[in-house]
Amino acid sequence: MTEPTTARRVLVLNGPNLGRLGSREPEVYGTATFDDLASACRATAAELGLEADVRQTDDESELVGWLHEAADSGAAVVLNPAAFTHYSYALRDACATVTGPLVEVHLSNPAAREEFRHTSVVAGVATGSVTGFGVDSYRLALRAVAGLL
Ligand code: DQA
Repeated sequence: MTEPTTARRVLVLNGPNLGRLGSREPEVYGTATFDDLASACRATAAELGLEADVRQTDDESELVGWLHEAADSGAAVVLNPAAFTHYSYALRDACATVTGPLVEVHLSNPAAREEFRHTSVVAGVATGSVTGFGVDSYRLALRAVAGLL
């Protein structure tokens, strides 16, 4: 089997507390675990002819490093910045260096939640955003990426 080219590679990057999906506020985020989410992303990506590399970190500098990696390799990005969405200018600046498509995703709909979640410092440098559809937000984001590559 031939390896997907760099152009078909997607980094699916997840920020703080998303590793606790399944037990974390299931009434907000659902009952799927992070492993379930990662499997769903890999399956959808395979259907679309993409290769998804799914990662999660609670560490802002690690997430910034992964975005630099995407910038250097030209990979597309599906990013759930989690709480960093609302205040991390470092993350925003790292997103701005990515040259491939970058889709911001959220499981919940931040606009329908607390006031502090209404601001996304990342949205302005993303290609687009998909929010509020649970794990389907990621499936829709991967579809959008496949359409753009
Ligand atoms: C989230 C929404 C953020 O406001 C929150 O801090 C998260 C998860 C979501 O996927 O709905 O950690 O990004």
